[in-house]
Amino acid sequence: MRLVEISEGKAKILVPDQREYEREGKFDPAWAPVFYNTRMVFNRDISVLAVSVISPKNIVDALSATGIRGIRYYLETTPPQTLVLNDLDKGAIELIKANSERNGVNALVTNRDANSLLFETSADYVDVDPFGTPSPFILSSIKATRNNGHVAYTATDLSPLEGKAKMSCKRKYDAENSKLSFSKEVGVRVLIGKIAREAAILEKAVIPEIAFYKDYYYRVILKVKRGAKRADECLNNLGFYSECNNCGFSYEGKERIDRCPKCGSPMKTAGPLWLGNLYNMDFLTRMKEELKTRSYLQNFSKLDYFISLLIKEGKYNQHYFNLEFLSSKLRLNIPPKRKILECLGDASETHFDPKGIKTSKNFQETLSCIKGLNDR
Ligand SMILES: C[S@@+](CC[C@H](N)C(=O)[O-])C[C@H]1O[C@@H](n2cnc3c(N)ncnc32)[C@H](O)[C@@H]1O
Repeated sequence: MRLVEISEGKAKILVPDQREYEREGKFDPAWAPVFYNTRMVFNRDISVLAVSVISPKNIVDALSATGIRGIRYYLETTPPQTLVLNDLDKGAIELIKANSERNGVNALVTNRDANSLLFETSADYVDVDPFGTPSPFILSSIKATRNNGHVAYTATDLSPLEGKAKMSCKRKYDAENSKLSFSKEVGVRVLIGKIAREAAILEKAVIPEIAFYKDYYYRVILKVKRGAKRADECLNNLGFYSECNNCGFSYEGKERIDRCPKCGSPMKTAGPLWLGNLYNMDFLTRMKEELKTRSYLQNFSKLDYFISLLIKEGKYNQHYFNLEFLSSKLRLNIPPKRKILECLGDASETHFDPKGIKTSKNFQETLSCIKGLNDR
């Protein structure tokens, strides 16, 4: 394998030379013998900020590939007392060892199946960044996370999570999922819903610190607390979202409903999913503080904008309204988003979707704004 050196954050690491694996001028990181994806730099940047807020004593990066994620945690936050970098692939292990050494990172490098490792270890922070769905690793990673510790998941399988691949969603997340007009938010809530149910098996509760959608993946970082009672309370945050394809009415609640209470048409449903908060506002504010000391990050401005937007929209826990969808149901033009936000007053844009808004106002009040702006 021919290698090249790249810089990311404060790390300088060796990765497979992309040119050797291109096919007809195109490149997919999965075609190289060891996985390194430049499109995940933002994911790792934001995770560095979160890990610096958490300041864990020990970290397990269970699916490390080149080791970049764990190496960055070591270099860019207070170094943990122990760092485990693990991968099943032997080629990855060679690279993780070389990259740790190059960066002066003191890591325990292990070549194990992530599940067998996680069932036998424990840490304050566990990172699960797999190909596609994290579902096969949820139980073991929750088991490995100590009381009051944190666990992080990346999910790149948007089709099941957003409800495009219904059966796949049933298999991987044990949830029903008809694609709703605010499907980007549904996805992250289906994922957390599954994590909460797996945690409950182990009599543990999860509390989201940050949960977001970006480009082609979801990323969630959750606090884990032990206790059967806490697990029961956590499960109280599960419920359903439904939406009427006829009049556009949407519902969220603990009970599943089949008929639209407004027009009696059948509703499309997603769930069980997480209805609770997606963000810990204090955690987000501290992440923003951590960012201030990291002007070396190439994504500095994007991160600042993104975290600020999460802080703004975090005020509204209700799912977002898709303005294009609502306007089409009313057979009206979509007014400019800025005007709708002004009309609603208590509302925000959302990172989930440029066509979406978050608001404390209800369905009827939001429709009235769209109608009113069309009448002017
Ligand atoms: C998406 S890559 C990880 C990327 C890395 N975390 C990063 O930020 O660049 C997934 C990695 O998981 C490894 N892997 C797949 N199945 C595994 C398993 N069961 N146990 C441990 N590693 C596994 C693959 O070899 C691959 O290197």
